[in-house]
Amino acid sequence: MKGPTRYSWSLLSPLMLAGSSFFWTAAKTTSKRSLSVFAEAAPRSSLPLSGCFASGNGSGKTLAFAVPPFRAADRTQGCATHRLSTATPIATESHSKGSDKNENEADPEYSPWNDPRVAERAKKDNNSHRSRQHVNPLARKFQQPTVLSDNWPVDVFDDLSKPIFLDIGCSRGGFLLDLASQRPGDYNYLGLEIRPIIVHHAQERLRNRKLEGGLDFVGCNANVDLERLLTLLTSTSENQEATRGNVEMVTIQFPDPHFKARHAKRRVVTPELVQTLARFMPEGATVFLQSDVQLVLDEMRLQFREQAEYFQDAHESVEEYIPENILGIPTEREISVLERDLPVFRATFTRTGAKAV
Ligand SMILES: C[S@@+](CC[C@H](N)C(=O)[O-])C[C@H]1O[C@@H](n2cnc3c(N)ncnc32)[C@H](O)[C@@H]1O
Repeated sequence: MKGPTRYSWSLLSPLMLAGSSFFWTAAKTTSKRSLSVFAEAAPRSSLPLSGCFASGNGSGKTLAFAVPPFRAADRTQGCATHRLSTATPIATESHSKGSDKNENEADPEYSPWNDPRVAERAKKDNNSHRSRQHVNPLARKFQQPTVLSDNWPVDVFDDLSKPIFLDIGCSRGGFLLDLASQRPGDYNYLGLEIRPIIVHHAQERLRNRKLEGGLDFVGCNANVDLERLLTLLTSTSENQEATRGNVEMVTIQFPDPHFKARHAKRRVVTPELVQTLARFMPEGATVFLQSDVQLVLDEMRLQFREQAEYFQDAHESVEEYIPENILGIPTEREISVLERDLPVFRATFTRTGAKAV
């Protein structure tokens, strides 16, 4: 190579390297930004994100179910601070990455649901969609038992002899709020929700709709606290009234899918959860499952079918699904799915007479 050409190459190469590294960094930052802007903006839009991302790449999947199907008009006031009591912790994921980092740190003073900072955030949160859309239920902080008033459930339900309707993963509670308004005397309605801010919103909506006495939303990890809550709900102590209602109806609707194989253990329906339900549900009681993700419904269904001694599937074949929502009241997620003409997969189970220990 001749002088000037050699000179220009030796000058240009480092410049080109620096330039390409600058563009690469800029491109990465921009794409991250636009992704987060998209994630922020998406829930407020009516884009069919679930359809776009549900079977897409890894990063898209988080967004896919980050789309609450509705706008909650109500805001929460926070909740009372109560004592911690014990529950059954399950295995944690101690090496979570990225956004799970904070979740993995348990606060020694508060559980996530009675933390006054969360209540404060919920109060200020004028746009409820800003709260994180997914949490990792195996993170250490979500392995803590929830806090309940000393007198729960006596202080929340007017008549504990009524049968219990349990909705696991109730989110902002729209389904139970509608059901409890339409059929106020039929059940004591209980919704369980793991996301602290979201459950504050549900509690606020409950107060606004004046449905106290027959409906309660408890912030907790169902996989940690279900047994304790159902024990408190269904058993009587010596100085309390004799009869308590049974868990007659359980719904698990559109649970978080946790697509990645390594996240499958985060799914809410586990063998332990099915066993707990079997212990508290009487013969003839019903479990209703639905999801817009066929694989998720099939897996939940399999968990119940594996305990066929206690739960009888309405259909013999796993290829058959219940065509309609048996309750006639759609959940918020269901409304969004149906509006986009996406399919919903449903199954029901009936509790057999076998005694569960
Ligand atoms: C996709 S949303 C569906 C909400 C509602 N059932 C509906 O159909 O509109 C699933 C909900 O389950 C909650 N959830 C997930 N794991 C949970 C757990 N272990 N305990 C309690 N709630 C849980 C999530 O925070 C989320 O609000």
